[in-house]
Amino acid sequence: MYGLQEINKEYNRRGDAVVAFRCDRLEIGAGEYVAVVGPSGSGKTTLLSLLGGMLSPTRGKVWLDGQSLYDLSVAERTRIRRQRMGFVFQSFNLIPYLTALENVQLPLVLTGLPATEQCRRATALLDRFGLHGRLGHKPNELSVGQQQRVALARTLVNDPRIILADEPTGNLDPTNRQLVLEILDESCRSGRTVVMVTHDPEAARHAHRQLRLCDGAVSEILVRNSTTKSGDAA
Ligand SMILES: Nc1ncnc2c1ncn2[C@@H]1O[C@H](COP(=O)(O)OP(=O)(O)O)[C@@H](O)[C@H]1O
Ligand SMILES: [Mg+2]
Repeated sequence: MYGLQEINKEYNRRGDAVVAFRCDRLEIGAGEYVAVVGPSGSGKTTLLSLLGGMLSPTRGKVWLDGQSLYDLSVAERTRIRRQRMGFVFQSFNLIPYLTALENVQLPLVLTGLPATEQCRRATALLDRFGLHGRLGHKPNELSVGQQQRVALARTLVNDPRIILADEPTGNLDPTNRQLVLEILDESCRSGRTVVMVTHDPEAARHAHRQLRLCDGAVSEILVRNSTTKSGDAA
């Protein structure tokens, strides 16, 4: 599925290059559940954006199903993103003037599905996330935890094969956190690939593999019950 090869992502800050993420080789298999952990500023969001086709590397290749993602045209990359990927952003990115239902329906508008079917799917997901009574609420009329669940519903409504989630449990109470983790577990069981950035060690344990980032590089890989230092094992 994913292959990262000789990747380096640098930002320029007042003439100084800051390496936000680098790695020689990293593979993520179809159906794998990977957690990305590490301190703030260690490159987690950068890695997720590289995988999501949203940030071109300074050097190196990101392969997805045999295609070099950043050698495609912007239009082709956008199409792949819409068809195969679902994102949960750290900042939710909900549209403020749309209701919860409209926000969740949004990815379906582009698919040409009949409006009644769009509404049915979006309502079913929001129901499942305990937002039954909040369909008509705008983001600023929802709690942070509710906004997080609307964002997750919007991510899943398209039935993406790849789920890229940046701190999906960050703002949730224990019950909703558990719900989100169950949904991601279930997504993985049904064959989807999940890459989740998290600060939550308990959430990270749900993954098959944990990548620990430090200063923009993979410093450690934890495979369910065994640990390897990186440099060779990636
Ligand atoms: N647009 C940007 N311009 C300059 N530096 C950036 C930019 N985005 C991120 N960085 C830097 O890259 C590093 C990694 O950032 P990020 O991937 O957001 O880390 P994390 O998600 O682990 O907190 C940090 O040092 C951050 O300051
Ligand atoms: Mg981040």
